[in-house]
Amino acid sequence: MSRLTNQLFARKPLELLLEEARGENRLRRILGPVQLTALGVGAVIGAGIFVATGSAAHNVAGPSLMLSYVTAGITCIFAALCYAEFAAMVPVAGSAYTYAYATLGELFAWIIGWDLVLEYGVASAAVGTGWSGYFQSVLHKLGIHVPKLLAESPWRYDAVTGHFVSTGSMMNLPAILIVALVTAVLVKGIAESASFNAAMVGIKLAAVLFVIGVGAFLVNPANWKPFAPYGWTGISFFGHHVSGQVDPSGTPVGMLAGAAIIFFAYIGFDSVSTHTEEAKNPQRDVPIGIIVSLVLCTILYIGVVAVLTGMVKYDQLDVNAPVSIAFRQKGLGWAEGLIAAAGVAGITSVLLVMMLSGPRVFLAMARDGLVPKSTFGDVHPKFRTPWKSTILIGVGIMALAGLAPIDFLLHLTNIGTLLAFVIVCTAVLVMRRKYPDAERPFRCPWVPVVPILGILTCLLLMFSLPTGNWWRLGIWLALGFVIYFLYGRKHSVMRQQTETH
Ligand code: ALA
Repeated sequence: MSRLTNQLFARKPLELLLEEARGENRLRRILGPVQLTALGVGAVIGAGIFVATGSAAHNVAGPSLMLSYVTAGITCIFAALCYAEFAAMVPVAGSAYTYAYATLGELFAWIIGWDLVLEYGVASAAVGTGWSGYFQSVLHKLGIHVPKLLAESPWRYDAVTGHFVSTGSMMNLPAILIVALVTAVLVKGIAESASFNAAMVGIKLAAVLFVIGVGAFLVNPANWKPFAPYGWTGISFFGHHVSGQVDPSGTPVGMLAGAAIIFFAYIGFDSVSTHTEEAKNPQRDVPIGIIVSLVLCTILYIGVVAVLTGMVKYDQLDVNAPVSIAFRQKGLGWAEGLIAAAGVAGITSVLLVMMLSGPRVFLAMARDGLVPKSTFGDVHPKFRTPWKSTILIGVGIMALAGLAPIDFLLHLTNIGTLLAFVIVCTAVLVMRRKYPDAERPFRCPWVPVVPILGILTCLLLMFSLPTGNWWRLGIWLALGFVIYFLYGRKHSVMRQQTETH
């Protein structure tokens, strides 16, 4: 028994991680603080603000969604400070999986790796669905209409009845096609060119600033009343109503419940830590990139939501392409086309980053022996990409993006990410105890207060999500445990090393 426990909680030593980083083919150190911040913004601004805002304001929070964005932003700042400490301390191609392996042991590393694959996979499906909404908005401007049968998921969440209702459609074909295209690009290998990213970020920022700058003149303050039509909270605990209002299906609604949904909009800042190896001065610049991109996005998001809910009454916002359609609703048809086109470009770049990440987590797990190397660790001889897992995950994402409604996908992404953040915050606390003297070029301030607040706020948002998500997360994790005990535990490289010593 104690051997089992030893293995389950076996930690990958910090020295080994650093050694592996030195041994890896080093990437060129070319990124400075500005480029790193741009990468963060590139990964963050996408379907969340352009799409999720619509249904969140419409069905869950009303104009108080502005404060939902503040709440989710603060929650992310706590987690970001913890990520930044790790990214500076363990400057390997960082992910929460690696951090957990170094601090909490193999079982937790497995849980988080498995959870991250779910998160990135489902997030990609949500982003693909959001892309489709904007793409169709652009086509609409050009007078082209996707046939109803192929335009959206077969189901839609009806907030009035609280049930999923049939849309009369068969599948979301544009979403399937964009995911297939991005999968192909990723198999071939995308030179993650900072200049391509800079162009995308430029377009996105221009669109966001346009929305705020022009939209501000179209605001009618009367639209902000009532400010919190669904109340301020919205918390339930495994189906038991704790505080605030619920919709007819028993799903919590209110400002806090809105924060749990649009939390999605902030996902991606953590991806800056995956560029640590390419940073000129990682110990200083990666924390800057993580934190500055997050703060910048928070400010812009609040601006967009304030303008949007001021322009159009919350219950009249469109749920598929709310930002561009708000301009049509105000009679600015030309602006609708511009924003929708910028939305398509911006959301595509997020999709690339998200779909890049899942196979990379699996690759790290395959190197550690936790998932089959022949599939997940196989790097294409010519393209140098983890092609098999990219295709496998790509096909799963296509199915989800083609069939599942966007609300379902958003909720499920959030619970997975929030769990990852809880583990990263916990790992910082553990690391400070286990390795109190390790060099920490960036120190998360006010430890243990910040990590503990991070854990509590993430848990609070997790409880504000509909209960069904806990069950889905539970099922996914249970499946993960079965695979771990049947495969990962036996093939773990750490275990083999421990046993030979
Ligand atoms: N934050 C990313 C988006 O909103 C996932 O698209």
